[in-house]
Amino acid sequence: MTIVVTGGAGYIGSHMVLALLDAGEDVTVIDNLSTGFRWAVPDGVRFIHGDIGDEALLKRALSTGDCEAIIHFAGSIVVPDSVADPLGYYLNNTVKTRGLIAAAVAAGVPHFIFSSTAAVYGIQDEMPVFETARLDPISPYGTSKLMSELMLRDTAAAHDITYAALRYFNVAGADPQGRSGQSSPRATHLIKVAAQAALGDRPYLEIFGRDYPTPDGTCIRDYIHVTDLIAAHMAALNYLRAGGRSDVFNCGYGKGYSVLEVISAVERATNHPLVVRDGPPRPGDAPMLVAGAKKVRERLGWAPEHEDLDEIVASALHWENRLKTKLAVS
Ligand code: UFG
Repeated sequence: MTIVVTGGAGYIGSHMVLALLDAGEDVTVIDNLSTGFRWAVPDGVRFIHGDIGDEALLKRALSTGDCEAIIHFAGSIVVPDSVADPLGYYLNNTVKTRGLIAAAVAAGVPHFIFSSTAAVYGIQDEMPVFETARLDPISPYGTSKLMSELMLRDTAAAHDITYAALRYFNVAGADPQGRSGQSSPRATHLIKVAAQAALGDRPYLEIFGRDYPTPDGTCIRDYIHVTDLIAAHMAALNYLRAGGRSDVFNCGYGKGYSVLEVISAVERATNHPLVVRDGPPRPGDAPMLVAGAKKVRERLGWAPEHEDLDEIVASALHWENRLKTKLAVS
């Protein structure tokens, strides 16, 4: 049996592939390489270069009937881009996910693990936010993912497939063995951008708003190490294999850090002040998002091992350095 990983050449997907290989699983990657890298997929993994919107390609990929689970990472992930191009996001994230779910049902794939997002919550009065909270995304990105969750819920009720939708909070950091990391040069995520600024690959880091209703005025997020996030996927896979029922799980630590606290962590790691500039608030940003993370621990038995922000930042910096060497060589 194989595990199909869509978006397996991307940041989070490539870490999933490594973890599956480490666990002795057979892996098939489908990726259109729009933001991923062929080199991020290790040798020995079946690689299908193509788009999940291509129905014939999906049919072919699943035709052997030996796919035990689809772990679906492929998608667009930049919140402000989704505000500018909602229909592009609904196509890439929602319509294509519908096609993938349909292909999974047609091929009799028993399990589906979906990359959802904390952005489904929007702005909430209560923090941390639990899975039972009102779902009220404030960006098309969040809505595009929420619609996919709802399709999965209804499909699992009608067909013989179980799923886990994992609502990621802010994923950061890199593989502790240095095999993969966030590699997109145009990444917009805070820790990645801060690492690039710290290494001189960007002139400065812009702080998007200092007037939020938070203690220091900058937005608060729950940063989760990519290795811990992948451990949650492995736990979800084993849970579904063991007959666990379909469900959604927050993936975060339950602890938030402000933009200024992240900047301090980068400065601690490099022992150097970061060049920062104040900018306007970014459309679609919620002031605070912190995970209520009981369910993932209790139901999936997830026990994170890399919760320290300094460790997350150090691993992001380490990867950024490696990436420079890698790109210089290739
Ligand atoms: N930020 C800056 N400057 C930057 C980049 C980010 O100040 O250059 C701030 C943002 O305004 C925000 C915080 O840092 O307050 C985190 O921003 P990111 O872009 O790193 O992440 P987001 O919170 O916007 O979004 C991420 C993922 C989504 C996910 C969401 C859930 O991209 O997929 O986390 O919290 F849904």
